[in-house]
Parts: sequence; structure tokens; C-alpha cells
Amino acid sequence: MSAPISASAAPAAFANENGRRQILVTSALPYANGQIHIGHMVEYIQTDIWVRALRMHGHEVYYVGADDTHGTPVMLCAEKEGITPKALIERVWKEHKRDFDSFGISFDNYYSTDAEENRVLCDSIYTSLQQAGLIDARDIEQAYDPVKEMFLPDRFIKGQCPKCGAQDQYGDNCEVCGSTYQPTELINPYSVVSGATPIRKTSTHYFFRLSDPRCEEFLRGWVSGLAQPEATNKMREWLGDKGEAKLADWDISRDAPYFGFEIPGAPGKYFYVWVDAPVGYYASFMNLAECIGLDFAAWVKLGSKAEQYHFIGKDILYFHTLFWPAMLEFSGHRTPTNVFAHGFLTVDGAKMSKSRGTFITAQSVIDTGLNPEWLRYYFAAKLNSTMEDIDLNLEDFQARVNSDLVGKYVNIASRAAGFLIKRFDGRVQDSAMNHPLLEQLRATVPHIAGFYEAREYGRALRTTMELADVVNGYVDTAKPWEQAKDPANAAALHETCSVSLEAFRLLSLALKPVLPKLVESVESFLGIAPLVWADAAKPLSSASPINAYKHLTTRVDPKQIEVLLAANRESLQPGAEAAAPAATAKKEAKPKQDEPDVISIDDFAKVDLRVAKIVDCKAVEGSDKLLQLTLDIGEEKTRNVFSGIKSAYQPQDLIGKLTVMVANLAPRKMKFGLSEGMVPRPTRRPSRVSTFWSRIAARNRECA
Ligand code: 2FM
Ligand code: ZN
Repeated sequence: MSAPISASAAPAAFANENGRRQILVTSALPYANGQIHIGHMVEYIQTDIWVRALRMHGHEVYYVGADDTHGTPVMLCAEKEGITPKALIERVWKEHKRDFDSFGISFDNYYSTDAEENRVLCDSIYTSLQQAGLIDARDIEQAYDPVKEMFLPDRFIKGQCPKCGAQDQYGDNCEVCGSTYQPTELINPYSVVSGATPIRKTSTHYFFRLSDPRCEEFLRGWVSGLAQPEATNKMREWLGDKGEAKLADWDISRDAPYFGFEIPGAPGKYFYVWVDAPVGYYASFMNLAECIGLDFAAWVKLGSKAEQYHFIGKDILYFHTLFWPAMLEFSGHRTPTNVFAHGFLTVDGAKMSKSRGTFITAQSVIDTGLNPEWLRYYFAAKLNSTMEDIDLNLEDFQARVNSDLVGKYVNIASRAAGFLIKRFDGRVQDSAMNHPLLEQLRATVPHIAGFYEAREYGRALRTTMELADVVNGYVDTAKPWEQAKDPANAAALHETCSVSLEAFRLLSLALKPVLPKLVESVESFLGIAPLVWADAAKPLSSASPINAYKHLTTRVDPKQIEVLLAANRESLQPGAEAAAPAATAKKEAKPKQDEPDVISIDDFAKVDLRVAKIVDCKAVEGSDKLLQLTLDIGEEKTRNVFSGIKSAYQPQDLIGKLTVMVANLAPRKMKFGLSEGMVPRPTRRPSRVSTFWSRIAARNRECA
């Protein structure tokens, strides 16, 4: 049994005699039925920066990914498009690959979970778990769509919330009041697939016996090495106290029809998508290993010296810190060295929204002509090693990119290069390479490299920009444009330009993991080999002149942002669904980020809002939530309204008060009588944190 090791402790523990480490890195696999959006990109950019920073040390790093192709949503999405799941996943794979390439995500292999390597690995892991006595077959009762003849995952059942009565709520939690519940508690449930009322049906399912004391014991040990205290705490909560037996067995099978791998020895039963998805990390790596002649087994076997890291969103922590390590441990594999979870992306302080145009697809960024490296820079500036959510503030984005990248960084090169080329044949003054300013930069570069490895990218960039400020201050003081006026100052001008360009080289080195493409142009402008960390100590030399300076980057134009928002807003128009099927794609496993939370003026015009006098108000016998209000809105008769506001008001306090009511809401027959309108409830939305974890709890229940 091996506990994960925190990244900072890793080098000494894993490096070979040359200090070279073997490192396998993954990002979560995106579902194969939706477009990549900038929320996804946060994770791929975070991982890619880490991978690039580690490669720059000369370590043997492999970064693999794949599309997560199996499961009910993919199957239904293909059906809706009138194509086979295989055709769908093939098309989406190409789109995802194109998006990752555009954003400079440097996968060594981008594969698919619908691959032979994955089938073989899943079969072998499952068989090992079976041999270890960790697989059970049990009959369970589940919701079944009698029209579509398929079992329904919780997210495919909707109905009225049992707590607040809101219509069209999912089977696991209510988006209106935030409560979580069992799908069986929904009022008037219906299948999202056919509209039919689900029935209960029994079927045999296969379970991974996570409740086995061996699993608990292993996981208790493994958790102690997790790098993020939030993850450790969450895991300890899931594990409970010793002897509490909180871990539930995990249902790993699904019945036909299902797009996935059939379970060996169990015809008509398929591995649940969350079984073959993480195994897909290994399948992608195995495929890479076959292509480049690497010993796959040596990397993944028990006791391997290689390191293995998974970057994920915090919503899928459960799968990566409980199921996946346990699957590996009890099938004779090494376990992950660490799992790094990040938070969600908001745009301008709110969740991404199609109606505001902030549900921004990766492709739309490219189509709008925005440089993806600007987003890489902005996200990196906001990222740290915690699970905090990050916000893309579009104004701040423009200001920061323009000020940091153009105003501070590129400006250094553009101010110095012209003089060096025109006056000094493009050659630096070698004696200037020992200038104290450069020594300061060289001494700081290893710290910056360390910040990247610790996933403190914000700190890495802040430090880099502080150095850029110092360099600009040096140039402002030296005034090369003044020095250039008098030939007697030639040596001083030469020194200023040489120091500036060497400083620019060092800043480029510090920025390289974040801005690989830009720094590639810098390398060709300076006429130097691809930069690695060790190059901090190898200054520019008069022996190799620099090349003509070409524009390295431009400013963000505010118009581009307008076009970007408009392009994504348009995807809400009728007929655009085929181009952006992501909305349904995420239902099974991701908290929704795509719900419009504004209404159009036409929607608003439909609502008949009236000021009403509360002429009577009383508690409702048998209900601990409702108050019964008698409302006068100037009509012949008063209105009777039931409202779930009992926890906020005493009935007698409301009598005689005015309220606003929606007067044209269809009357609703409730257990206690007819409700003829709606009054606002006090705002008591659960905090984002508690909503988040209650959603996760609901999903974990679904998967248990
Ligand atoms: O939540 C998701 O988007 C999943 N497709 C992630 C899978 S990660 C891994 F386990 F494959
Ligand atoms: Zn509710």
C-alpha cells in the first residue's frame, strides 16, 4: 500500500541518479457529446502549464488524454442526431483535438475510451477485483422507461420537487430550493427520454465492494498523502470514523441498451461509464507506450518508481480519490501519486450562461481571432493550488493582458531590439551579461519554476511581472532614446540594450510554460535553442546576433470581446443545438453551468405582477413549510395562495402588509387546496458551497 506523495516532496523520492523523474499526467476526460468550452479549458491549461514546466527540467513527462465516450447521454445524443454512437464520437474527437491543439495543450497522446486497449484493461482490472472477492452481484430495483425500454439514470427523470413543489426538477436535487432527495420522492415523475411515467423494475447489478474493510483500510492510508487539505478533509468525511463503515458499495454495471463495454461473463451488462473512464487514462498511455516503445507495465505496476498525477475538477473528486485508487490497489497496480483538484470557472462573477453569451466555446475564441495564449495567461494569473473557483472578468482580462503582456513584457524587447540591430549589428555586449539586474533575474527564475511545480501559477506570474517592472524601471532610467542621440554614449546604449534583451530572454523563460507559442517566436527572434530552466545561466552572446524584431503580440481589442459574446449568444437561437450539444451532455456528471438565468423582455411581459394586500394569513395544518395567504388585488374575489414561507414569517405579522404577486400563474391544485398565484419568497438560497457539496452528495449517492 502506498500513500500519495505531495508534489513538492516528489523529486527526492522519485528522481533517478541523474535527478530525472518519470511522470505520467492526465486531465479529466471530456464527454464525447459536447463542445469544449472555456470552463473545460481551465483544467487543460492548468495541467499543460504544469507539464511544460516539468518538461523544462528535463524530466520524462507524458501527458495523456482521451474522450470519455461511453454512457447513456452519448447513446441518446447520437440517436437524436440519427447517427451511430461510433460516428458521433469520431466526429467529436476531431473537434476536441482541434480545440486542444489551438490552445496549445501538449498531449503526448489524445485517445478515446472506446478503444481496444481500454476494453482489455477494464476486463483485466475487473477480473482481478473479482478474484480478490470485491465484486458482488445483487438484484436492485430501478426506474425504467416502459416506452423506451431502458433503465433511467437519475438525471433522466424529472418531476415536481417534493420539498417546494417546483416543476421540472431533476431526480436528485431541486434547482429552485436546493434540496436533495431520492428520485422516488419526485411528484409526477416523467422520463426525460420519452415523457412516459417511469415504472420500477428489478435487475441484477454488479457492485464493487468498497465497503470491504480492506478498501477502507487502504483508503485511510492513501488519503494521508493528498496534496490539498480540502481534498483530505472531504475524503475523511466520506470515510467517516474508523469502524463507522460509511463507504457504500459502488454499482459498476448498467443494463442494455448502453453504449460501452460488456462485462466479461455477464451478457447484457455493461461497465458503467465511470469504470472505463479512468481506466481510459491507462488505455491512452498504453497506446502511446506501444507507439514509442515504452515499457507500459513498468510504469503502472505495483511499486513503480514513476509518478502519476491526475488533474480534475473538484466535482469528480469522489471518483478519483475513492473508486479509482481502490480499483488500482486491488488489481495489482500502483496508485496515483496525487490528485489535484481545481475549482469552477465563473464569467463576470456568474456561472457561464448561454443567454449572456458567456458559455464560451473554445472554437468561438479561435473564430473571433482572440489569441488563446491571452486566456492561458489570464487563467494562469488566477490559478493556485487550491480548489477555489476562478472568475474570468472580461474587463480585467483585457486590462491585464494589455498591461502585462504588451505594456510590460513585450515592450522591453521592442524598446531595445531596434537600437541593437541598427547600431550594433544585432550583437549584445558580452560584459553587460553580468549586470546586477540580470543576476537578480537569474536568481529568481528557480523560485518561479518552483511556483509552477507547486501549482501556484498566480504567484509565478506576479513574481515575473514584478521583475518586468524592475526591468522597465531600468530602461526608463537609462533612457536609450536619449543615449542614442549622442555617439559618445554608444557603449552605454549598447549596455542598456544588451541588459534589456537578456532580461527579456529571462522573462521569456519564466513565461514559457504559460505562453509556449509566443516564447517560440521569442526564441527564433533571439536566435536561441528552445529554452529550458537550466538556460537561466546561459546568457545571450555576441557570437550569435539576434534577428530582426517582429511584432510578438497585439493588444486585446474590446470589439473582439463583444463579437465573442455575440457569437456565443447566437448559439441559443433555434437550430443552433446541433452545433452546441453541450447542454445535455453534462447532465449525467457535471453540475450544470449552462442554465440561462435572465429572461427576455417578452418573457417578462407575460407576467402579470400586482401589488396585493394580505388580508389574512394562517398556518396550514399538516405542513411545516406553507402559509395560507388571502390576497386582495382589487378583484371581486380575494385570491387564495399557498406559499412556502413559514420558516421566515409569523402569520400575524403579515396581515395588513402589501406584497407583490404573480396574478396570472395557472392555479395549482395542492394537497391543502387550490393555490391561485405566487408571492415572492425571502431570498435564502443556499450558499454556493453548500449547494455544490449537496449536488456532489446527490451524485455520489447515484453512483454508490
Ligand atoms: O466529469 C466528466 O466530465 C467526466 N467525463 C470525467 C471523466 S475523468 C476520468 F475519470 F476519465
Ligand atoms: Zn424544490
